[in-house]
Amino acid sequence: MGALSGKTAIVTGAAGGIGRSIALALAGEGVNLCLLGRGRERLEGLFRQVATRHPGLRITFHTVDLADAAGVRRVCEDLLRDEPAIDLLIHSAGLMVPGGYSEAESADFDAQYFINVRAPFLLTRGLLSAIRAGKGQIVFVNSSAAQQKARAGMVAYAASKYALIALADSLRDEVNADGVRVVSIYPGRTATAMQERIHRLEGKPYRPAALLQPEDVAEAVLNALKASPTAEITDISIRPFQKG
Ligand SMILES: NC(=O)c1ccc[n+]([C@@H]2O[C@H](COP(=O)([O-])OP(=O)(O)OC[C@H]3O[C@@H](n4cnc5c(N)ncnc54)[C@H](OP(=O)(O)O)[C@@H]3O)[C@@H](O)[C@H]2O)c1
Repeated sequence: MGALSGKTAIVTGAAGGIGRSIALALAGEGVNLCLLGRGRERLEGLFRQVATRHPGLRITFHTVDLADAAGVRRVCEDLLRDEPAIDLLIHSAGLMVPGGYSEAESADFDAQYFINVRAPFLLTRGLLSAIRAGKGQIVFVNSSAAQQKARAGMVAYAASKYALIALADSLRDEVNADGVRVVSIYPGRTATAMQERIHRLEGKPYRPAALLQPEDVAEAVLNALKASPTAEITDISIRPFQKG
């Protein structure tokens, strides 16, 4: 039996890209899943896939728009009713809308702040009692954009991911003493719907095989979650091996 077997994970952005890969990888380790996303159909599809492959697991899904604070509060109440102790919370949902000072729309700035910053804060805060009870682990899917000098043309996204570093570091400082571990992962360009859209907007040909794969990111997350209980992996940088 693996280190994570029998644990329960809440995964945001579970229906797409990196979140979906993390959910599938966790299921492969025997982890029960609470899948969060906006689209009921895509969540149901993932639910069926996991339930067929891993009939012994307990799987639920919850539709929520993470930009809606009241919706996040409701989903926290639902989750706490079912899960008095939470082992793993994976924040993967995210939004990237390219744009510099000249063209970035205020509404896009707000949306990236709501989804990339406020939602992980509200969700973590809402579930913290159960995470403390489970001596849980929290993963923030950040971005290599927060590990380099912020580039022109992505002001709101870079600002939101810089803020996510502060969220993770401040949380770690607050909850380590309670046995809760916090890890940030900073992927470079990863072959998901988000990256396909960005290539289209940049007018570049999309060659997914040259990018990181969402499964690569999931594997790195899993390794961190399986670290010995005497260790804490705090930050993981991962980038495509092919450059160019
Ligand atoms: N792909 C990359 O190159 C890359 C690189 C570095 C970091 N990241 C980060 O990795 C994370 C996952 O991105 P991805 O590449 O997997 O992109 P993706 O395939 O577009 O997935 C993003 C997920 O976020 C969810 N989401 C977006 N807005 C939401 C909202 N308002 N409420 C609830 N869920 C919402 C989406 O759910 P729906 O299905 O409901 O739309 C989707 O499942 C993000 O935090 C992103 O910033 C990605």
